[in-house]
Amino acid sequence: MLSRLKLKNYGFTPYELFPTSYKLFPIPYLYPMRIDIISVVPELMHSPFAGSIMKRAQEAGLAEVHFHNLRDYTTNTYKQVDDYPYGGGAGMVLMVAPIDKCISQLKAEREYDAVIYMTPDGDVLNQGMANALSLFQNIIVLCGHYKGVDQRVRELFVTHEISIGDYVLSGGELAAAVLCDSLIRLIPGVLGNETSALTDSFQDGLLAPPVYTRPADYNGHQVPEILTSGNTPKVEAWREEQALKITKQKRPDLLE
Ligand code: ADE
Repeated sequence: MLSRLKLKNYGFTPYELFPTSYKLFPIPYLYPMRIDIISVVPELMHSPFAGSIMKRAQEAGLAEVHFHNLRDYTTNTYKQVDDYPYGGGAGMVLMVAPIDKCISQLKAEREYDAVIYMTPDGDVLNQGMANALSLFQNIIVLCGHYKGVDQRVRELFVTHEISIGDYVLSGGELAAAVLCDSLIRLIPGVLGNETSALTDSFQDGLLAPPVYTRPADYNGHQVPEILTSGNTPKVEAWREEQALKITKQKRPDLLE
């Protein structure tokens, strides 16, 4: 797949930037990637991080995820984190003071490469952004809720604004989990097979080809013969051809 023409520039994965031997020279990975997630409902995010690849990455010490409940950083006795919008209108707005306190405390402990705000009006996440962000060491992910955060939070603290698509969720929490999954799986050593992140859809500008497993014959429905031929170059050529065909059919915009 790597031999394929890069149709669009999606940036580089850590595997490509540190090609042969990130294991021999693991300089950028001496420390786990640290992600601090700030939210008013952090419990919404616990389960996505408690299973499968995101759990394995944390157990292997390749990623560290810390949840911060904004209510623990309130500056008033009622633990109030939101207030009515100036000028009126529906919905509540997350206040600047608790967010400032939380981010400032974190920044006093270590340097951060990015403070990402999850918001439907941000840049829409794609594989290139995930590749670039996965190279960072420490990031803060701020989840909006209700009507979002006071604009001054965005001006004062936020370095990246990211959306996961053109639809509105009840808050940034599920979007943050999606973002983190897309980053964590790119950290070298997280996926069992080091090259498997490189064969994902989008990684080379194309959708992934179809995959099959046993049995070769399911009630008369056969696996394409070439895949059981044992001829690796032919299998690779078939996969490239299929990827191109499927991309033309389903996402011609990727080829433009
Ligand atoms: N918060 C609400 N909707 C969102 C979206 N689509 N992407 C990121 N954060 C969000």
